[in-house]
Amino acid sequence: MTKTKPFLSALSGEIISPPPCWFMRQAGRYLPEYRKIRSESKSFLDFCFTPDLALEATQQPLRRFGFDAAILFSDILVIPYGLGQGVRFKEGEGPLLDAIRSPGDIERLDLSLIESRLAPVFKAVKKISSSLDNKTALIGFAGAPFTVALYMIEGRGGTEGTKVRNWAAGKANSFERLIDILCEATSSYLIEQVNHGAEALQLFDSWAGLLPESEFRRWVIEPNRRIVDAVHTVHPKVPIIGFPRNAGVLYRDFVRETGVQGVSIDSTVPLQWAVEELQSICTVQGNLDNHLLCSGGDIMEDEVRRILNFFKHGPFIFNLGHGVLPPTPIENVERVVDMVRNSA
Ligand code: CP3
Repeated sequence: MTKTKPFLSALSGEIISPPPCWFMRQAGRYLPEYRKIRSESKSFLDFCFTPDLALEATQQPLRRFGFDAAILFSDILVIPYGLGQGVRFKEGEGPLLDAIRSPGDIERLDLSLIESRLAPVFKAVKKISSSLDNKTALIGFAGAPFTVALYMIEGRGGTEGTKVRNWAAGKANSFERLIDILCEATSSYLIEQVNHGAEALQLFDSWAGLLPESEFRRWVIEPNRRIVDAVHTVHPKVPIIGFPRNAGVLYRDFVRETGVQGVSIDSTVPLQWAVEELQSICTVQGNLDNHLLCSGGDIMEDEVRRILNFFKHGPFIFNLGHGVLPPTPIENVERVVDMVRNSA
């Protein structure tokens, strides 16, 4: 008989000791073996759309650290690409998109392209799924609509979201139309990932914390809820983790109203508050500061112990508050994983 994978047990509400552990952005540039295969490939999107490379990049961190979950190697910006928007990644600059500037640009997005444009991602999911051992779970993912819309309208990362926020407030009807398109595209994209072997899903709403309460409800909670509903209509048992980064006290309403099984919390969330208000209603994932992981030392180790101590009485998955930073020393990742493993 195969035992349930620890990551999936934790998401079903069990207390697992030691807790399962994986890191957001666990694949990528802090790994020399990633930089090597990445430098041999022309563009980042070509890399993502080559199933054997996506498989290799997904597996690299598992080989080194034996994480409890693999996350599909891809990017949240494959959805705009799948809808027909121009998307490139420029070395040293991050993503550059042909920004949406008018309601007409939104009408030109084409939902019918998604299936064929993103077919290589589903092939990668299938390959990764059949490559995993019986302890490691496969996480599929997508960006949540507000965060993806931010990149689609700003045209790049590294902004304060001024354009997207002006659009959402000033032309709410056409913004709603964009969010609707993204809900539909994202739901079918995630359902297809589960069809090909993803065992859990994470929705990254990295820029959710930019929004004041009423807009947070409309552009973060509501679209995440619709996607969770749509996925659960087809796959009622697949666990979904929400990540409305920097949501503050709104994390609680996010969990209650979206119906997620897990919530990934950023490093600003006070641990006692998270234990009382979040871990009592779902599985908590988090929340070591990614800069502490990068700097290492006693401060990092104290914080790892503090997090483990606070969350040990409820369902918990050890993770970061945001993704691994490129300059992070590998020894620091090894040290944290070792501490988590030996915490039982
Ligand atoms: O290991 C994993 O987590 C799987 C792969 C993954 C990537 N991006 C690969 C990637 C995941 C889950 C993401 C999510 C993602 N992408 C988010 C949400 C999480 C977050 O960090 O907030 C966002 C906002 C993006 C958009 C994005 N992709 C940006 C802003 C950038 C440039 C900045 C950066 O970190 O490089 C990317 C590029 C990207 N996505 C890289 C990787 C490995 C680096 C590109 C390269 O190797 O050339």
